[in-house]
Amino acid sequence: MSRRVLITGAYRGIGAACALAFAPTGARIALADIRKPDETAEAAARAGALETLALACDVSDEGAVAAVGEAVRENFGGLDIVVHCAGVIHEAPLLETPVADFDWVIAINLRGSFLVGKMALGLMEGTAEAPARLILIASDMAYYGRETFSPYVASKHGVLGLVRSWAKEFAPRVLVNAICPGPIDTEMLGAANMSAEWRAKELAIPLGRFGRPEEIGELALFLASPGGRYFTGQGVSSNGGSVMP
Ligand SMILES: NC(=O)c1ccc[n+]([C@@H]2O[C@H](COP(=O)([O-])OP(=O)(O)OC[C@H]3O[C@@H](n4cnc5c(N)ncnc54)[C@H](O)[C@@H]3O)[C@@H](O)[C@H]2O)c1
Repeated sequence: MSRRVLITGAYRGIGAACALAFAPTGARIALADIRKPDETAEAAARAGALETLALACDVSDEGAVAAVGEAVRENFGGLDIVVHCAGVIHEAPLLETPVADFDWVIAINLRGSFLVGKMALGLMEGTAEAPARLILIASDMAYYGRETFSPYVASKHGVLGLVRSWAKEFAPRVLVNAICPGPIDTEMLGAANMSAEWRAKELAIPLGRFGRPEEIGELALFLASPGGRYFTGQGVSSNGGSVMP
């Protein structure tokens, strides 16, 4: 049976790569992003998705997330797999970080994960034999502190807390895991968001290169596959050796 998938942050980057990873399996895929992800939906349909649904949604907005849940319920009847990729990064010295910036990062990365996860868990049936899969994209920074990134680091530590708690609460019918990527070559790491100094530091990891978004898509596909059936409550690190938790 065709699996029913929701991917957030699907307009570009890791979310778009996850959509293209699931498409050839013939899944029915709902794609949500603050920018309506029509192009990703078209690419996923060309790549083999049985049905696609492009939805505009700010994941920090409770009503907007509820509307995504309603659209998914109407069109698919429920959910088997969710990959929550929507997120933002923020780099600044603490003493130059207005409280409003902290609130913005936490609203999108942590509150957004709570809202999307809660909505998804309400729509997932799943059984011990055929568990549903909820995958949240955290970060390797969920494992360590990083100067000039404290709101982002705190938000991603929080995402791991949600994953570990929900994995216990919904076992065995839903498997809940985080992917904790190292530096991945997306616009999030581009010059608009990140200083050149930080990018250079990021390359000083054992594998000496940024990861590709497709590498995270493949990992999400694995966690949602039969091979992933004994993973729950984990932060799974595809990170080029940036951190060895
Ligand atoms: N790129 C990296 O190095 C890296 C490393 C670790 C973790 N991550 C995490 O992976 C996830 C995806 O990041 P990416 O690298 O693809 O970044 P990206 O900036 O390319 O994509 C992020 C997507 O999230 C969407 N988005 C932003 N705010 C939103 C909101 N309020 N509501 C809905 N959608 C929103 C954006 O429109 C965009 O399409 C993020 O959670 C990020 O923290 C990225």
